[in-house]
Amino acid sequence: MSSSTKKAQSNQPHAATIGLAANRIVTLDEFIIRAEKDFEYATGELTGLLRDIGVAAKIINREVNKAGLVNILGVADSGENESGDTQQKLDVYANEKLIECLQNSGECCAIASEENTDIINVPAVNSKKSHYIVMFDPLDGSSNIDVNVSVGTIFAIYRRKSDASGPATLEDFLQEGAKQVAAGYVLYGTSTILVYTTGRGVNGFTLDPSIGEFCLSHRNMRIPVNGQFYSVNQGYYSKFDLEMRRYIDHCSDQNYGLRYIGSMVSDIHRILIHGGIFLYPSTRKYPKGKLRLLYECNPLSMLVEQAGGKAINTQLKRILDIVPNELHVRSTIAIGSPAMVDELQAFIERYSALPI
Ligand code: AHG
Ligand code: MN
Ligand code: MN
Repeated sequence: MSSSTKKAQSNQPHAATIGLAANRIVTLDEFIIRAEKDFEYATGELTGLLRDIGVAAKIINREVNKAGLVNILGVADSGENESGDTQQKLDVYANEKLIECLQNSGECCAIASEENTDIINVPAVNSKKSHYIVMFDPLDGSSNIDVNVSVGTIFAIYRRKSDASGPATLEDFLQEGAKQVAAGYVLYGTSTILVYTTGRGVNGFTLDPSIGEFCLSHRNMRIPVNGQFYSVNQGYYSKFDLEMRRYIDHCSDQNYGLRYIGSMVSDIHRILIHGGIFLYPSTRKYPKGKLRLLYECNPLSMLVEQAGGKAINTQLKRILDIVPNELHVRSTIAIGSPAMVDELQAFIERYSALPI
């Protein structure tokens, strides 16, 4: 192990700090409750929200697992969502379940989803005034679902900016990613895992189907400083800018392996564990990048940064510092092991000024 890797791994031992012995089963609920005292605005609302998302994840997981058996594969009747992406039946189902779970508890005051055009205000439950808003991509990589490839749910939680006495506003959602108070994903893969952060490290919980509980399985996840894999849709190579093509050539020269699942959440999960870099630069079809800042880039960037990694756009701006100007804004992204993102940055600085 390199000294830099050792340094990264010694940082922020979150699970250890909340007094959990390494050798016993810790459920997500227990972990969230114990960790609540670490949180600056500990009112129980955030705890409740994370639990709501955990419940929705179990319901979505159940449906994803039987997707081939019931008539829930394929394109939804609605056809397309706000961003013009094809909407799968499971996109619609996952979206409905998340909204339903969050609405029932009233732990958040408003929701924004990749699948909805506008924000959804959540009526107060028992007159409780919530201070939180939630944004999500209910099913990421859903075009993969018909072929049994891993998909995921990505979520981000913010404190609202507006006064809690009135309805939430669009301004509450147009906050930079650095303002996230929690972010995470659920990956419906060979096993189902929920990974989240509240800004004090990253922990992962694998669903034990026999007891129906997410159990702590990945404590204090730390991304390797360097990696051996790069992840990009190389089919678009000829449409990439010169600096991106030069960097991809460099990855190939270095004998880095190419891994690209077509489901960002799966690629990021691999990178969190094994290191590497994920790239989605501008293409002819998506000149500003394809991935959604609020539902994909921000939450995954918070997780990766919390695990010791980096995330920038191809203008070299930190993703978490971008101020969104609309709900469904897209961004380019380079995210992953810090040494690899730094190396890409050097390529961009060197080649972006040159003629194509
Ligand atoms: P979604 O299924 O939520 O629309 O997201 C798909 C995203 C992302 O998960 C993936 O990395 C990317 O789109 C794949 O896009 P390309 O097929 O253009 O590579
Ligand atoms: Mn997505
Ligand atoms: Mn999606």
